[in-house]
Parts: sequence; C-alpha cells; structure tokens
Amino acid sequence: MATGMKSTAGAPPAGSIELGRRQFLALAATSVIGACSRDSVYHPTLAPNSLLARGPQVAQISQTAGIVAWRSKDPVVGSVEYGDSPAYGQEAAVALAQTEHVFALQGLTPGTRYHYRLKLDGQVESEGHHFDTAAAGAAPLRFAVLGDSGVCSPDQMEVAQSIRNATPDLVIHTGDVVYYFGAPDELDPNYFLPYRTLIDRIPFYSCLGNHDVLTSNGAPLLGALYMPTNSADGSSRFYSFDRGDVHFVALDSNQDTAPGSLQYLWLQADLAAATARWTVVFAHHPPYSNAAEHGSDMTVRANLVPLFDAYGVDLVFSGHDHNYERSLPMVNGNVVNGFEEPDFMDPAGTIYLVTAGGGNFLYPSGADTYTAFSDMCFHCLLVDVNAFRLTVETVVPGGAVIDRFSITKS
Ligand SMILES: [Fe+2]
Repeated sequence: MATGMKSTAGAPPAGSIELGRRQFLALAATSVIGACSRDSVYHPTLAPNSLLARGPQVAQISQTAGIVAWRSKDPVVGSVEYGDSPAYGQEAAVALAQTEHVFALQGLTPGTRYHYRLKLDGQVESEGHHFDTAAAGAAPLRFAVLGDSGVCSPDQMEVAQSIRNATPDLVIHTGDVVYYFGAPDELDPNYFLPYRTLIDRIPFYSCLGNHDVLTSNGAPLLGALYMPTNSADGSSRFYSFDRGDVHFVALDSNQDTAPGSLQYLWLQADLAAATARWTVVFAHHPPYSNAAEHGSDMTVRANLVPLFDAYGVDLVFSGHDHNYERSLPMVNGNVVNGFEEPDFMDPAGTIYLVTAGGGNFLYPSGADTYTAFSDMCFHCLLVDVNAFRLTVETVVPGGAVIDRFSITKS
C-alpha cells in the first residue's frame, strides 16, 4: 500500500459536498473553489460579436461518422463545411432556421483528420476546427479520464490543459459535469466554455453524477451532449460503445442497479456480448473508495461487482470522492495478483479507480489494504491501449506523473 504526496492544490472547505446553493456560491466567491467570472483569465468566452451561443462540439466520432453540433444565439439556417483538407469541399445543411444545429456526418474515411467550419445564414463563423476519425481495426488508443469538474475553477482549467496537451482520442467523464444543480444556465459556464477548445475536436462521454441529476433527473445535460443511446430505455443515461479494442460502458449509479433492474439486466447482456479485448466501465459512485467524505458505495458494490467479476471487466472508473485512489486487482473485494504491482500480467481481477479531481474542491484521500495509491490532488488519467498492453498514468497540473501502472494480456 502506498499513499501519494500531500496535495498543495487547494484545501477542502469545511462541511459536506451537500451544500446548499447559497453556501456553494459563497465558497466560489471567496475563491475556495475558484472564481467563475467572465473576466477571469482562466475563463474562455465567446467573441462578443459571435453568432454562436454554444459550441461547436463533436460527439460519437467513429471510423466513418461523427456528430458536429452547436447553438446559435438566434434562429438561423446552419450548415457545416467539412473535408479532409483545410479547403473543406463538402457541406451539410438544413434549410430550417433554428438555434440547435446537429449534423451527423456520414461516409467519412477512417484515421483521417477532418477540417470543418460553421456557417450561419451563409456567414462563415471565423474559426476553423478539426477532428480525427477513428483508425480502422484495433488501432492504438489514448483516452483521458476526469471527474467532478464542473465548477469553472482555475483548477478545472489546469486539468483541461493537461488533457489538451495529451491529445487523446476521446475523454471519459465520471460525472458531476455541471455543479450545482445540473441546471440549464449552469451548462455553459461550467462545461461548454471551459472545454470549448477540447470539445470542438475530441468526443466527450460522460456518466451522470449526483449533481447532474438534480434538475429534471439530468435532462438538461443529457439533452446538451450527444452520447450513445443504446441503453435499455433508449436514453444515454447508461450506454456502451466500442473504440479501438476497448468496450466502454457508462452506468447511471443514481438509478437502480439491483439484480433484475432494467439497468442491471442491460449491463449483464451488454458485457456478455462484448468482444473487444479490453472492457472499461465508468459510473459516478465508487464501489471502492476510502475518502472520509463519501467512501465506498456499498449498494453499487453489492449489485455490480459480481457482474464486473463474472465478465472480467479490466478497469472501473468512478468519481464522487474528490481525490485519486487506485486499487490493486480485486475479485469480490479480495486482492489478486497484488505482488505484481505496478505492472500486472493477466490479472484475474478488476482495478478500481476513483478519479474525481477534475476541478471542484478536494477531499482528503484514504487507503485500505487493497489500495495501491491514493492522493488528494487535481488530476486526470491518461490511458494508452496498444494491443495486449494497457498503461495508465495519473497526471497533475504542470504535467507531473504521480502514479503509473500497466496491464498486459498474453
Ligand atoms: Fe458526486
């Protein structure tokens, strides 16, 4: 067991995360969680004369398709010019004046950089953007993971810069994307503006945190992102997708996960049908956490760990406890292959990670006998998957790697 260095980044406020909105905003005003001001040097804004109100964002980038979406201030006829060179060459348009513009581009070439720009009522929006389609086959993949970010703090922007520097193929968010209530007016200052120069090129996939569902059970966030909808109820409350040789599964740990529930039965069928070499699950509430603030979610542990064990899930990412903690491989709570730390060969269990240092104030981390590493720090994870080998690095603002482990499958 090892615990990390003491964090130098921010002290936790007194009291619980379950603060009232007034208390939360008071903390923000005193910079405990960072000022969320339009004047902040940390806080990007749209150009005053822009016709855009939000975006653009990309979503669900695959080998041959991808979504480009944005919001305009006023109803306009929107179109997107795109192509595999800065000359664009193709254009998708909808002849209807509206404010929400969503274009599902099809027939793209795998492993190709696509350039795009927006047009609103025929006027070219000044910035050019780009995204990369997924490479064909089981190509190497890099993805980033973060959680509990949505407060518009300087720390959130620092973590975002780490992700930007790493140029991942996609980003996984472990929830609490938008504090405090997941309300419509909180989406832009806490998500779309801080990540504006990430989401225009890299698809984000999130699960729902407890704060995200405080407004209309998460409808504002779910309606603003364009994530997969292959769940049992056709929503993106929980879903799965493949990228490279990884099967990703997002769960809604705010909802019922009990055996026999809609989500449980869907997860069981989804894991049984998965064919990728690697399986990664992300859900907000951690089945294994030793932070004093929340700790392990015993309901999630009791309901879902048996499925993770049965279907050989490799990694489970969670949020909620605002720090970092990594377990050794475990089956039913018992460590397996622990002596191989930190480079595991065919581990017979699942590694559980709490990654919730994406920008909100931190909680002191803890450790148990199964803990490989924990630290109270702002951070993101970078996961590199290359055929039989998967490597995870924990990166803090400034670029230092404070934890690293690997899994090799023979
Ligand atoms: Fe949470």
